[in-house]
Amino acid sequence: MHRFKYKKGGLHCEGVGLERIAQKVGTPFYCYSLESVREHYRRLRDAFKGIDCQICYSVKSNSNLTLMRQLVRMGAGLDIVSGGELYKGLKVGASPETIVYSSVGKTEAEIRAASSAGILMFNVESEEELEAINRVACHLGKVQPVALRVNPDVKASTHHYITTGTKENKFGISMDDAFRMFVESYRYPFLKFIGVHTHIGSQITEARPFVQTIRKISEFVTRLRRAGMFLEYFNIGGGLGIVYSKEKPQTAHAFAAAVRPLLQKMKLKVILEPGRFISGNSGILVTEVLYWKEARHKTFCIVDAGMNDLARPSIYGAHHEILPVRQRGSSGPAATHVDVVGPICESGDFLAKDRKLVRMRSGEFLAVMSCGAYGFTMASNYNSRPRIPEVVVRGQRFWVARRRETPEDLIRGEEILDV
Ligand code: LLP
Repeated sequence: MHRFKYKKGGLHCEGVGLERIAQKVGTPFYCYSLESVREHYRRLRDAFKGIDCQICYSVKSNSNLTLMRQLVRMGAGLDIVSGGELYKGLKVGASPETIVYSSVGKTEAEIRAASSAGILMFNVESEEELEAINRVACHLGKVQPVALRVNPDVKASTHHYITTGTKENKFGISMDDAFRMFVESYRYPFLKFIGVHTHIGSQITEARPFVQTIRKISEFVTRLRRAGMFLEYFNIGGGLGIVYSKEKPQTAHAFAAAVRPLLQKMKLKVILEPGRFISGNSGILVTEVLYWKEARHKTFCIVDAGMNDLARPSIYGAHHEILPVRQRGSSGPAATHVDVVGPICESGDFLAKDRKLVRMRSGEFLAVMSCGAYGFTMASNYNSRPRIPEVVVRGQRFWVARRRETPEDLIRGEEILDV
């Protein structure tokens, strides 16, 4: 579900024509529909009505401050993975007691900052991390709530770079080790073990692996209770898939219906960490066609956005639909198979491969769909390219929520050392 639709032949975001935005801010740019963000959040929240559930939006998917602020205002907590995300979360006014912090490699400085801010809990991924958090809490003179991130060894059918819940992954702690750590929690006087966390991967389109995971965790929680442990929270993680092309992902409602009976039996407060589900279909990338090149064996549509702006196709072979911002009439030239490529000096620099596209002319715009999640947040300055602006739309209005970087931004913090 998204709010990018053609009106009078031109692609719009909500009530604003993308050509109008392009003329005002130049290309390339990311464009987010705030109404889509709000709607996805609402759907998930409503699907879990009746369950004591905190949705902690996964900031890594899209950490635009305006977008985060919208979600926080609607009652979302945050799932963070770094000191930087903590900083941004606090900046947009998230209350610390709605923030959960995952990552296999939290530094002591990051732990100190998050603990001092009073976050709800750390999702802990190793025994040494428990010791580190215990040490910091001792220095701060407080008792720090933690959950253990348990690796349920469940396989979710998604790209192997984004499965996280199997034995081969660096994430989480095996059930047996986690059980022992819970039982030995007395060894950490400055920690309070309050929950179990899992996250089995991303872009998961069916409920089955989640159900499998919850069943396993449910048994695990029963074992812990028998051993005298008192838990308050179960965090399911994120990972709900969206439509990029022809996927038929579960709806929020179907997902909630599948897991609800299991969750109710567990009698724990529930945390969800959705990222992509909320931000993915809420954003697009608009790029301008520079050149059309018909080489011997292939046709290339060369555009002004590259893999530094949107890394997903290059890294994961991810599919993003490509739409012309101005629709052509049926009398126009026939579509051919083309690669849509950027200006970066890498053969891996492409936004789409082998797509049917009508002959585009220089100066025309293309929209790369469904890149609100892991789009801008994974962008870089590779090839010394300034990062592109993020525009937010609500109704008939749009704002530049993050301006285009300038050449000065490229050298900020750097010295020319004549040594
Ligand atoms: N919670 C934890 C602990 C996570 O590691 C992640 C994502 C999420 C929640 C949110 O997952 P989501 O609901 O967005 O699927 N860059 C990749 C995705 C990496 C996901 C990393 N972890 C991509 O572009 O597909």
